[in-house]
Amino acid sequence: MIVTTKKLFEAAYGKYAIGAYNINNLEQAMGLFRGNLDSQAPFIIQISRGARSYTDKLMLEGLIRSANEVFPEAIFAVHLDHGDEETAMDCINSGFYSSVMIDASHAPFDENIAITKRVVDAAHAKGIVVEAELGQLGGVEEDISVDEADAKLTNPDEAKEFVERTGCDSLACAIGTSHGAFKFAGSQGLHFNVLADIQKNLPGFPLVMHGSSSVPQEEVKRINDAGGKLLGAKGVDADQFKRAAELGVTKINIDTDGRLVWTRVHREFFRDKPEQFDLRPPGKIFMAEYAKFIADKNVKLGSAGQLEEVRKLVG
Ligand code: G3H
Ligand code: 13P
Ligand code: ZN
Repeated sequence: MIVTTKKLFEAAYGKYAIGAYNINNLEQAMGLFRGNLDSQAPFIIQISRGARSYTDKLMLEGLIRSANEVFPEAIFAVHLDHGDEETAMDCINSGFYSSVMIDASHAPFDENIAITKRVVDAAHAKGIVVEAELGQLGGVEEDISVDEADAKLTNPDEAKEFVERTGCDSLACAIGTSHGAFKFAGSQGLHFNVLADIQKNLPGFPLVMHGSSSVPQEEVKRINDAGGKLLGAKGVDADQFKRAAELGVTKINIDTDGRLVWTRVHREFFRDKPEQFDLRPPGKIFMAEYAKFIADKNVKLGSAGQLEEVRKLVG
């Protein structure tokens, strides 16, 4: 059942976070649905602009529609990840997405507000919810000054003004994470103090944490042992998710970790079976491993075991 993220956030606020997982293909879709049902968790499927253009945007929509039939017990939102205005409008008009992100965080404050507001107005007219972003995600380098680093983080006072002026439904905040497998280049960690200040200014308002893959060291080692070259890869400590949830984070974005599972499975498979050229055997291993990864992650997020409670709410 496809629902809006708003419903999921109402159930989760202050208690746990919903996993928002990016997918690009069939194997990820199968593993994702299985893992969430195995762990009895509601979830969010994220589709990036890159995912939409990997094959044809309709292919992914078709996959998700089919998965919804194959796994009728699943409860999830379909969300555009990091949309620009044009893509957000396309998704709003498609009738398929229940949630879109407009990411105008690169623009000056007032322009970010203007762009976000246009998307919010169009989305709300169709019952679709909007995530917006304020602050600069991205590596905080070792040689950057504390003032410079803070300037990239979301300003809690601006966050309040931004939400009031745009009417967005959730806010992605920069609190020290970055996308990809090489996070925390400097000595920086998660800035829980910033999150706490944002929550004080916006009590009860759903916050979103991007760049939240954990980049498990065991996974990185297995990839490197099988011929990979991911040197110095590191991520967010998944044991910090629950603290973030208590501070108002209801959605935690994870993409890189899934790519690492894919890379490990395929590197090890073809290293150990060099005579093989059938894509299905490693594909089957990947689907099972990805399902296990999702189920384990949902335990860290606190969303595992929440499916029936959410079903009562969305009923
Ligand atoms: O935030 C970025 C996501 O990991 C999506 O990545 O644009 O390569 O699909 P992508
Ligand atoms: P990761 O690169 O840490 O998986 O972050 C994904 C993300 O934020 C997608 O929007
Ligand atoms: Zn992101």
